[in-house]
Amino acid sequence: MADILLELRHVHKRYGENVVLRDLDLTVRRGEVVVVIGPSGCGKSTLLRCVNALEDIQGGEVLLDGQPVRQEAKNISQMRQKIGMVFQSYDLFPHKTILENVLLAPLKVQKRQRPEAEAEALALLERVGLADRRDDYPRQLSGGQKQRVAIVRALMTHPEILLLDEITAALDPEMVHEVLEVVLDLAKNGSTMLIVTHEMAFARAIAHRVVFLENGEIVEESRDPKAFFTRPATERAQRFLRTFEY
Ligand SMILES: Nc1ncnc2c1ncn2[C@@H]1O[C@H](COP(=O)(O)OP(=O)(O)O)[C@@H](O)[C@H]1O
Ligand SMILES: [Mg+2]
Repeated sequence: MADILLELRHVHKRYGENVVLRDLDLTVRRGEVVVVIGPSGCGKSTLLRCVNALEDIQGGEVLLDGQPVRQEAKNISQMRQKIGMVFQSYDLFPHKTILENVLLAPLKVQKRQRPEAEAEALALLERVGLADRRDDYPRQLSGGQKQRVAIVRALMTHPEILLLDEITAALDPEMVHEVLEVVLDLAKNGSTMLIVTHEMAFARAIAHRVVFLENGEIVEESRDPKAFFTRPATERAQRFLRTFEY
């Protein structure tokens, strides 16, 4: 279909003998929010890392806009700019201000002009409620604030898809909400996202589609998150969801 943005076809990934993704097929349409859930170690992070070729794969292919994303491809750095990623640890540069952190890729990699990039950075910082912290250093911010900066940094390169890997997992509970609000706002505005999370209420609220992964395989997939979270079809997903209270 024409509106497919990301496509994983028969992706096979292993570390030595350890098979982590088995013949995995997954598509994400433009404007779609897909949430991946599953037990620890089932391959969620590896899946996201394969999407932007941070990991090599032993079989299958990853296509973005119909173009292969491959480590050895000449255009890999251009392809990666179309894929924004936010991790659990925000990895901001400690000796750069918030503004300089978010301007780094646009100015150094994309060679954009400072006034224009800075105007966009400030508008995005404003949108996540942090415009007044532009000249602060990361250590002066809370975890939730730093994670909101990391989201802004990812948005600055105008990615076509955002990959979010447990972005609230390291945060104190009272900071989870402020970060998830930003992500919900992005979804409302049509951002395409592939999200790994353990926040089940959030997953239910934001997902257009839920994918349940176990042992590197998609065990259950649902286009009706409410139904899935109320009563998943497979026993394995039921067992998994029972371990959460939400
Ligand atoms: N860099 C690596 N080297 C070797 N094994 C890895 C590496 N990263 C992940 N793994 C293994 O791959 C499996 C899936 O890990 P991961 O994708 O991190 O799972 P999840 O994010 O679902 O918790 C685990 O068995 C893990 O030990
Ligand atoms: Mg993980």
